[in-house]
Amino acid sequence: MCGIVGYIGKKNALPIIINGLKRLEYRGYDSAGVTILNNKNQLLTFKRAGKVADLEKNINKDIFSGDTGIGHTRWATHGEPSDINAHPHYSSDDSIILVHNGIIENYKFLKNNLIKENYKFATETDTEVLVNLIHFNYANTKNFEKAVQISLTAVEGTYGIACMCKYEPDKIIAARKGSPLLIGVGIEEILVASDPSAVLNYTKKVIYLEDGEMAVVTKSGYGLKTIEDIQVLREAEELDLLQGEIEKGGYDHFMLKEICEQSETIQNTYRGRINFDTGVAKLGGLENVLEKMLKARRFIITACGTAWHAGLVGEHMIEQYCRIPVEVEYASEFRYRRPIIYPDDIIIVISQSGETADTLAALREAKKHGATTIGIVNVIGSTIAREVEAGTYIHAGPEIGVASTKAFTSQLMSLVLITLMLAKEKNVKLQDSLLSLAEELKRLPGKIQKMVDKREEYKKVAEKFKDSKNFLYLGRGYNFPVALEGALKLKEISYIHAEGYPAAEMKHGPIALIDKNMPIVIIAPLDRTYDKIISNIEEVKARKGIVIALANDEDENIKNYADYILRVPKTLALFAPIINVIPLQFLSYYIAAIRGCDVDQPRNLAKSVTVE
Ligand code: F6R
Repeated sequence: MCGIVGYIGKKNALPIIINGLKRLEYRGYDSAGVTILNNKNQLLTFKRAGKVADLEKNINKDIFSGDTGIGHTRWATHGEPSDINAHPHYSSDDSIILVHNGIIENYKFLKNNLIKENYKFATETDTEVLVNLIHFNYANTKNFEKAVQISLTAVEGTYGIACMCKYEPDKIIAARKGSPLLIGVGIEEILVASDPSAVLNYTKKVIYLEDGEMAVVTKSGYGLKTIEDIQVLREAEELDLLQGEIEKGGYDHFMLKEICEQSETIQNTYRGRINFDTGVAKLGGLENVLEKMLKARRFIITACGTAWHAGLVGEHMIEQYCRIPVEVEYASEFRYRRPIIYPDDIIIVISQSGETADTLAALREAKKHGATTIGIVNVIGSTIAREVEAGTYIHAGPEIGVASTKAFTSQLMSLVLITLMLAKEKNVKLQDSLLSLAEELKRLPGKIQKMVDKREEYKKVAEKFKDSKNFLYLGRGYNFPVALEGALKLKEISYIHAEGYPAAEMKHGPIALIDKNMPIVIIAPLDRTYDKIISNIEEVKARKGIVIALANDEDENIKNYADYILRVPKTLALFAPIINVIPLQFLSYYIAAIRGCDVDQPRNLAKSVTVE
């Protein structure tokens, strides 16, 4: 959830660490801190509640000068966001310094043992327990590496850590279990980070730590081993990521940039994976499980948040086009209810970050039952991507805005490709032929671009609703999950309460909410549900609700019913969610931006939820 950066080399560490922390702020940003080894071999720590920019403004750069250090940007799990709870944390005597992502589950047990040894604690954090445990083991071993190793074997839970020791100040020790960590290998310098974006300015050579591994990093190099003390030899890999890709590129916010990129990002998802002459899709990463997919009893899709909404669309697609039964599960619920999983089930996990703790746990649960696991993931080399049996990357590029946008449409596109691949193999008689689907797919980027180019029209609608307190989003069939996604986008970045509902369910409860102040976004494309949707709109109008209809360009009739119209190009049902979600992303973006909300870093949220 939080971000870690460490540096050891010949340059001044502070600006490099601050720069890295800024790149990681999307992971967590309620407090930040650094420890620098100064020229007198002293470890100096500065930390405070607030963003990295506050840290940068307030730190004394002359004093915090040295060529080694570690830093952290935090999203609170144990203990409120405050100066004292911010990382780095130090042992009671200040000799060991630690930054930590994840949660130490048995911290109370460890803390009680340390209290018996006369340790005192200044914070409520689990991290302070770990740093004191390392201190305790250092006192016994007088060997920093050993002390870290022994301490980590006693820890239950998850961690990505970087730590330093006053008595062996020329090294950083990093370790990982369940929380991503890598080392970036530069020329005469080495970085430690929880995410490649923090090292990209300095090196493209990285080594991802595996669970249960640690790295000892010094100016002269690095060594890898497991916490059981077995040496690990692994070559650095070359990152295929451009720094420009993770910068705003002239847009006011990352979220706006990411919404506007979607005509390109969906092409990146399907490029090289579909034959436009036949409509046949091929996904290299799934070839080894294709047979199993075709024979499967059922598919279970599991994910969280936006990725779960993509899963709901996937359920419609796969059931309708491939006639395979599909269940969709919140990953956070799935693992705890002793799910019935058969070895011939296919479990599809969808995750932008590939690090979401609940999704990862659901994946591991499925593996325990011997099911075949497939990932639909964005972040290359992420834990989920590495742990699934087979998978497909969505290739949406780094998504920095906390609210997921382009990853959603690329997740949908991956599900389209899976559907097309299976439909061909299953020989199902399709409502639209494979060829006509492929032809429409070719037109899709142009249609998306058309919406991006006229985004001012969506903004004008947004301006009318900046002061609304509540919203309803309604859709049917494929568009019900789109309604859920539209509502989620609005609430997470503008803090306006919003609910998504299947349009026909409205009369079973939510209709009670409707009055002249209630805006209702109704997804009303020209498809076989159109007449029914018009009836739903009439029910809203009869109660004086304000109708914002999402309607196709050619639909003149809608003007008789809607107060405001979000126009979208017509497409085939399979692609409708990809098209229809885009005006809803713009609507929530503009409402939040006009309200002056922190769009890219909404309160209480973090980009990647690596805690349960
Ligand atoms: C919503 C959002 C979250 C994520 C969810 C899963 O905009 O970003 O709901 O979709 O936390 O994250 P990933 O896809 O990284 O597993």
